[in-house]
Formats: sequence, structure tokens, C-alpha cells
Amino acid sequence: MGTEAWILQMMHDPMATRGSARTPLAGQMPSMDVPPKDATAAATFKPMTEADMKAAAAFLASQGDEPGDAIPASAPRRDEALRSAGEKIVTERCTTCHLFKGGGDDASLGARPSFPATRVARGCARR
Ligand code: HEC
Repeated sequence: MGTEAWILQMMHDPMATRGSARTPLAGQMPSMDVPPKDATAAATFKPMTEADMKAAAAFLASQGDEPGDAIPASAPRRDEALRSAGEKIVTERCTTCHLFKGGGDDASLGARPSFPATRVARGCARR
């Protein structure tokens, strides 16, 4: 499974994606495209479009690349326009919970996972 695929899966079904590799925050990431079970929350829920999810995944996956890394020829993150669309989406839609470039950095909200999201996929080998 490619990195983009893993990030997409994480946006769709975080718990299933984690499998048995649960973190202390497991269960706190809501799906981005499946409405919440709670009726009040579901009423205001706006599912992310598939295109937006793809763009966000491409951008985040690119954040995990280091100079010299071989990027597969078919990797969506090779598409510059997709990456920059993804950066905008991530900034707008994910930083309420995720720390990213210091954006959305509000300590009062408690412990929050930071991007790059690929660090767990890569076995915490990187920051
Ligand atoms: C309501 C808060 C919240 C929002 C909004 C949110 N996330 Fe998360 N996210 C979390 C939490 C909490 C975790 C840790 C869950 C876990 O470990 O199972 C997480 C984990 C992740 C991970 C795994 C990170 C890693 O390094 O292991 C990815 C990828 C991810 N989120 C992507 C996104 C993307 C992309 C968006 C925006 C489209 C987003 N999240 C929006 C709360 C949120």
C-alpha cells in the first residue's frame, strides 16, 4: 500500500486503518466522509469530497519525502497542482486538530497529533 493510500484510508476509517496499532489518541479522529453516528453532529457534518481527500493525501504524503527518496512514477503526489490544492485543504480542514507549521497551535485543546502524517507509516523513523 502506498503512502497516499494509507493517508486516504486514515481519513475514511481511522480505527480500521490503525488495526491493532492503537495510539493513545485512537478513536478521536473522526471519518472525513462517513457521517458521525450522533444525530446532532451528523446534522452539521459535511463529508469531504473524494477529490479533496485525494489532494490532501497527496500533499501530506509529499511532506514525508526526503531529498533523494524514490517517488513512484504513479504516485499522485508527483502532481504539483494536486499538492498545492491539498495544502489548502489540509490547512482549512485538518488544523483544528492537527498541528501543522504551527498553524492551529492552540495548547488549550490538549494533545494533538502533528503532521507529517507519514511518521507512523514509516515506523517513527522520522520526526
Ligand atoms: C476532530 C479532530 C481531527 C480532525 C479534524 C482531523 N484529524 Fe486526523 N487525527 C486526529 C486524531 C485524534 C488522530 C490520532 C488517531 C489515532 O492515533 O488513531 C489523527 C490521526 C491522523 C493520521 C495518522 C497520523 C499519524 O502520523 O499516525 C492522519 C494521516 C490524519 N489524522 C489525517 C487527517 C487529515 C488529512 C485531516 C483533514 C482532512 C484530519 N486528519 C483531520 C484528529 C483529527
